[in-house]
Amino acid sequence: MSVDNDIVNQSGNRPLADILRTGASRRNVLAGGLGAAAASFFAPSALASGISSANTYRGRSSRLMEFTPVSVAEGTGPMPAVAAEYEYDTLIPWGTPLQPGGPEYTGDPNTRPTAAEQAEQVGIGHDGMWLFPVRDKQGKPSNRGGMLAINHEFGRNSHVLGKDAPESMEDVRLSQHAHGVCCIAIANWRGKWKAIGSKNNRRIHVNTPVAFSGPVAGSELLDTKAGNPTLGTVNNCSSGYTPWGTYVTCEENFNGYFGATNEKTTWVATEEQARYGFSDGGFGYGWENFDKRFDLSDPDYQNEENRFGWCVEIDPFDPTQTPVKRTAMGRFKHEGAEFVVGKDDRIVAYMGDDQRFDYMYKFVSADSYKSMLKRGVSPLDEGSLYVARFDDDQTGEWLELTIDNPVLAARFSSQAEILTYARIAGDLLGATPMDRPEWATVGNKEVVYIAMTNNSRREVADAANPLAPNADGHIIRFRDSAKHTGTDFAWEIFIIAESTHGTEDTFSDPDGLWADDDGRLFIETDGGQKDGLNNQLMVADVVSGELRRLLTGVTSDEITGFTITPNQKTAFVNTQHPGNGDPSRTNFPAEVDGVTIPRDCTIVLRRKDGRKVGL
Ligand code: FEO
Ligand code: CA
Ligand code: CA
Ligand code: CA
Repeated sequence: MSVDNDIVNQSGNRPLADILRTGASRRNVLAGGLGAAAASFFAPSALASGISSANTYRGRSSRLMEFTPVSVAEGTGPMPAVAAEYEYDTLIPWGTPLQPGGPEYTGDPNTRPTAAEQAEQVGIGHDGMWLFPVRDKQGKPSNRGGMLAINHEFGRNSHVLGKDAPESMEDVRLSQHAHGVCCIAIANWRGKWKAIGSKNNRRIHVNTPVAFSGPVAGSELLDTKAGNPTLGTVNNCSSGYTPWGTYVTCEENFNGYFGATNEKTTWVATEEQARYGFSDGGFGYGWENFDKRFDLSDPDYQNEENRFGWCVEIDPFDPTQTPVKRTAMGRFKHEGAEFVVGKDDRIVAYMGDDQRFDYMYKFVSADSYKSMLKRGVSPLDEGSLYVARFDDDQTGEWLELTIDNPVLAARFSSQAEILTYARIAGDLLGATPMDRPEWATVGNKEVVYIAMTNNSRREVADAANPLAPNADGHIIRFRDSAKHTGTDFAWEIFIIAESTHGTEDTFSDPDGLWADDDGRLFIETDGGQKDGLNNQLMVADVVSGELRRLLTGVTSDEITGFTITPNQKTAFVNTQHPGNGDPSRTNFPAEVDGVTIPRDCTIVLRRKDGRKVGL
């Protein structure tokens, strides 16, 4: 989501405000000055080779990317474009029945699904996802089918309801059922991927029962006077997957679904509500007018808002499992959670909080995830949550959000309170305000990449956010000490989007990321691209910095979500909000007809010659 991104961090954390004096001028930054400095930092590590040229590379020699890039001229208009060596197909558009023969919505502009139908269909706002392969006859992960767990981040009322505001509880329920998560079986049948019937298929939406676990579970911070059950997940942006086979969906702009009718009381935001961006009107969904759960001014539902903003664990192979909100991972506008197995088999998750001037976080489990699972303890329930400080010498520190820290104990009464208001704890510890941290991904050699999508309101640059304003974003990479579990790290700028402008490699607003083990970084964009380009999927060589355009989406969409078969021969990406729902812009996945409502869907991408995606 690239709108509704206000500044709610009033902490004044500007620990690097004096970085301008270090000489990191815009010109130096764009010329790769910081990259050069970083080379010595990572040296003699595997990163060192070629790192200084990453920001400026203009050649075309990478053996990692042998495809013909989509040109700027090709990458516009109402239909996607892919590199000449590739082909694409579409899968599970909004309204696809969850089971064969179920209700279907195909984009008829004169109607919409009912709320009940929507609860039995693929939702809208396709975003983060992961394919959990079934096992083949040899017991190996199959390349031909599995459970696809996919987020339905959001759909505007104009798109979902065909009007700007709900007029009834039925409208609100339709909107709520379009949001959430879908687990759906997909299989490759004679070369074409299709959704198939399965007992595992299920929808999780805003009214699905959910459980809480970890330090905040049972806290009064989650209690309401009404005593209503804990229901639902919303604005599921990106996601992660664990080594034990579960899907973790991340709640991002949850604040936007709450509003205040001011019928029973006149709502005034608390400090905590203000820090999380709650407002009278929210993002205009209007749920509060019919569903009191989302009315901030109704005292019976005070604290309902604390039930959102979490990472939620889902078992894609057990439709009876209750999704669990893992509170040890903190409450903020979670973009995603990139899991990696760290030292001593601890599980580590890298997580961005996507708001202007908000922070990067990481969670480290208390013990080996294997031994925790053996003891019957979730590795996501016990561990440490850290927030990042990026220092101007290209090192950084992970600051633990713990009640054992006197600075935090002076403000908070419990670990539960710290986790619920993690942003405020980050303020107090002097975390570095970033340019909207979106996805993180771990590439080869333990290098973590994080996308800073943009920050048009930045007025003072610092080393990690070196442009003020930063209209088009950048990508930072770092490596933690102690195989992802340590508290210090070395970082550098990998690429600044503005440095690509004016070239055939141009891109802006990096958001989704995925790195393979060969040294490719897949970059998905969400925002206004230059030269009339639609949003796109770029591939970068992480050593040379070379970029190539693998795919462009359709008018007014966003390219997001990434998953891939185990043999890496088929990748899946999403077009989100194609045409912003306006059929005069695009009708995708239908052919252009000017009337069919465009529908979010998954794009299946493969090389025609059957080699790895990215080649
Ligand atoms: Fe949902 Fe920050 O993207
Ligand atoms: Ca975005
Ligand atoms: Ca989005
Ligand atoms: Ca995003």
